[in-house]
Amino acid sequence: MMTITAKINKKNPEPEIISQAAEIIKNGGLVAFPTETVYGLGADALNPQAVKKIYEAKGRPSDNPLILHVANINQVHELVEVNETAEILMKKFWPAPLTLVLKAKNIIPLQTRGGLDTAAIRMPNNPVALALIEKSGKPIAAPSANLSGRPSPTDFESVFNDMNGRIEMILDGGAVEVGIESTVIDITNPKKILMLRPGGFSREILEDTLKTHLEVPDTQSKKRSPGTRYRHYAPNIPVFVWKRGEKFPEFNNSAYVGINEPEIKIKEKILFSNIKDFAQGLFAAFRKFERENFSCIIVEWPEGNEDISEGLRDRIFRASRN
Ligand code: TXA
Ligand code: MG
Repeated sequence: MMTITAKINKKNPEPEIISQAAEIIKNGGLVAFPTETVYGLGADALNPQAVKKIYEAKGRPSDNPLILHVANINQVHELVEVNETAEILMKKFWPAPLTLVLKAKNIIPLQTRGGLDTAAIRMPNNPVALALIEKSGKPIAAPSANLSGRPSPTDFESVFNDMNGRIEMILDGGAVEVGIESTVIDITNPKKILMLRPGGFSREILEDTLKTHLEVPDTQSKKRSPGTRYRHYAPNIPVFVWKRGEKFPEFNNSAYVGINEPEIKIKEKILFSNIKDFAQGLFAAFRKFERENFSCIIVEWPEGNEDISEGLRDRIFRASRN
């Protein structure tokens, strides 16, 4: 398949390009597009054949459900049972890297929600994504636009490397802002809200707003986010974690990524000035070091309780335990 690529203005997306991409979505094809978190691989969420193509293009297990991306809150009422908690969060925070799991209505094909009776919904905070959803007139199902298991793509080149020849179109909206995926919470039971995946939206803000603690579902629970079962976010070379205060790991031909200087001389390193930049650049750093044929990557374990640290720690932990 020939993949069309198009540069698009991030703040003011060109209507001709959006129209072309929306036609592909309406016709059951796949378009990769930028969101504020990572690039998504989009298809018409209400078309089971189109959704099937997402799983094929990514090599993703089909029991791992997709997030439905919407451009306005009215759309949400057609898709899921909206409760008061959802109303509050959507009004207050959307568009944002915050995904809500709610009871699905029958209009959502089982393929899109991995056979579950719930569905995950989010309004992305990116003008290109919003314009594409709006113009398609459909909710867009979109996982991260990487081959299954690989680090999520945070720029056009990463999407192109994984998806060229597999999908109809890639929109190049430059580098993303957040760099790790959205926070996913299950709010089907407002009395017991579950943190399914920490991510770009802070737990603290949610807990302050809802005046409740977000519980982590236990590993046996069916409520867990199915995606968390699979190998994730990992480059093709081993990732090792270094916690400050512990002995610095020494390997031949390793690369380093973190905030603080590594404790030994290391051939190549990327140092970020804060947690936010660390999250924004982590996956791109993984892909860069892998391309440059380092034999492994040492990642500093980020401490602290800033907005995104929980999500960042989650991604580093998963990347390192494969
Ligand atoms: O930031 C993001 O969320 C990106 C961008 C493209 O929006 N998307 C993304 O999608 O990360 P994906 O498919 O890579 O991750 C979706 C996560 C998975 O862990 C999946 O299991 C979970 O959401 N999920 C989806 N529907 C669910 C449901 N009904 N119940 C529980 N978990 C669900
Ligand atoms: Mg993903």
